[in-house]
Amino acid sequence: MTHNPKFDRRVCSVLVIGTGGAGVRAAVAAREAGADVVMIGRRPRLDAHTVLAAGGINAALGTIDPQDTWQQHFADTLREGYYLSDPRVVEIMTREAAAAVLELAEWGCPFARTDDGRLDQRFFGAHTYRRTCYAGDYTGRAVLYTVAERARQLEIPVIENQYVSRLLVVDGQCFGALAFDIHSGDRCVFEADAVVLCTGGHTRNWRRSSSRRDENYGEGMWLAVEAGCRLMDMELVQFHPTGMLWPEEAAGTLVTEAVRGEGGHLVNAEGERFMRRYDAERMELSTRDRIALANYTEVKEGRGGPHGGVFLDVTHLGKEKILTKLPRMYRQFVEYQLLDISKQAMEVAPTAHYSMGGIAVDPAAHATDVRGLYAAGECTAGLHGANRLGGNSLVETLVFGKRAGSAAADFSLEREMQPRSRAAIARAHSELDALVHTGSELSRQLQREIRDTMWERCGVVRSAADLTDGLNRLADIRSRLGDIDVRPNDEGWGDLAHALDVRAMLGTAEATMHGALARTETRGAHNRSDFPSLDDSLVINFVCSRDANGQFTITGEPVPPISGELGSWVDAAKHEVVPGGLLE
Ligand code: FUM
Repeated sequence: MTHNPKFDRRVCSVLVIGTGGAGVRAAVAAREAGADVVMIGRRPRLDAHTVLAAGGINAALGTIDPQDTWQQHFADTLREGYYLSDPRVVEIMTREAAAAVLELAEWGCPFARTDDGRLDQRFFGAHTYRRTCYAGDYTGRAVLYTVAERARQLEIPVIENQYVSRLLVVDGQCFGALAFDIHSGDRCVFEADAVVLCTGGHTRNWRRSSSRRDENYGEGMWLAVEAGCRLMDMELVQFHPTGMLWPEEAAGTLVTEAVRGEGGHLVNAEGERFMRRYDAERMELSTRDRIALANYTEVKEGRGGPHGGVFLDVTHLGKEKILTKLPRMYRQFVEYQLLDISKQAMEVAPTAHYSMGGIAVDPAAHATDVRGLYAAGECTAGLHGANRLGGNSLVETLVFGKRAGSAAADFSLEREMQPRSRAAIARAHSELDALVHTGSELSRQLQREIRDTMWERCGVVRSAADLTDGLNRLADIRSRLGDIDVRPNDEGWGDLAHALDVRAMLGTAEATMHGALARTETRGAHNRSDFPSLDDSLVINFVCSRDANGQFTITGEPVPPISGELGSWVDAAKHEVVPGGLLE
């Protein structure tokens, strides 16, 4: 069918790309700092991936455990990240978490409360104290809706269904983005003094993933690379221990950690509570990396269930508690499996859940390597190290969304003149034009091949042989990119979006595999069967840059030092760490 997309131009001071928690918080901060802000997103505005974040948001409020402090939260985050987190980033987040959560509560977020009206807090894995605030098991949705309401009050425009194909850069400075409407194909050049990328992670690159179709393909990370940014820690990908296994369309869907936080037990096919053998002290509230590897190992060694998982049992909690604390989980299993979790155990297995690496940013403002370009949330690196603590991502979106948004506004307000480039805009248009042609390859098929490759060759346990084979498979897929069939029609421009997704998936998958090859040790979520121990010389971050020929170079950079008295908190926490070794 023929279609005549319109071409438009829109000018603002700050453009926010992404309408999840980080994006909306960034937009609110930029607006409050006096900027004229526009937000654009690929999905409908209240349906960003944040709505899937289930179990909670962390702040050392001390509601239930008054001895908790932000310093302890700092030490827990650093320790459980196996010392690869940037301590400066962790310090900012843990210092500012309480204010961020209390502000949200003031804005009306329906957090669970104690009888005396304070914010209730539940246990999440590997936290020293109960510091996870929650709204049932739909905390992300509650957070997003609350911040979005704030943005609505500030009259921040949100434009949905926008696929960004390129960031516009001239002389090392970002001045906007080219996007097209996924339904109509209409293009818009968004010109801005500063841009904030809040585009999520890349875990939909794995076959079993807690992300939905058409989200988290590393789109924003790849836009940043093409604009001239570096990526960092790409090999550090969190596999959540408990994802659904069936039916196929629900495989990977998150079974929240709150299930274990509320007392759920992990059991193998022999009826054994096997976490005793992996972490007898913390059991089901051990770290995600350890539980994911334990679940993987139980299945690998033949003690799994009929669908290749282990069992997560809450039947002893009783239906009333389940319906109060875990209402979404109850519905999810009824909807997909006709299973009443108050009567039968769930079968679960690891699922690719969170990108701990991403765009390299500075700690305070989350400025990238490109002037005028900021980033926040899951698309960035620095906070989580080799294993993210559950509940830290939602607070990350608030703290660093706010910081990036206000830094972008300041950047805009300080400019006397803004660079623009007709040539850069023309190149971005030509690039899109060139992708629209018939061909013999299907994007969906290539996506499936990438996802299978990542699952089979760069999954929970990796090895040099698998990774090398995986890179060869990715190279084969890359050689077929130019022949992708892209035929927009009256049904929409999804084909073009999918072809661009494949480009982002490939780039971020390759960066991940290169990082995984370089990290010749087992640390946190990164398990190498050929290097099953920690290597003390690898307390470094792997930074990934692309040269003029598009080849990746990986360099190790030392993790920045811990400042002042915070060192003693970390020293006190250190003896509890038992990293690595599970593979031996
Ligand atoms: O299990 C969960 O509810 C996930 C939380 C998180 O990833 O922070």
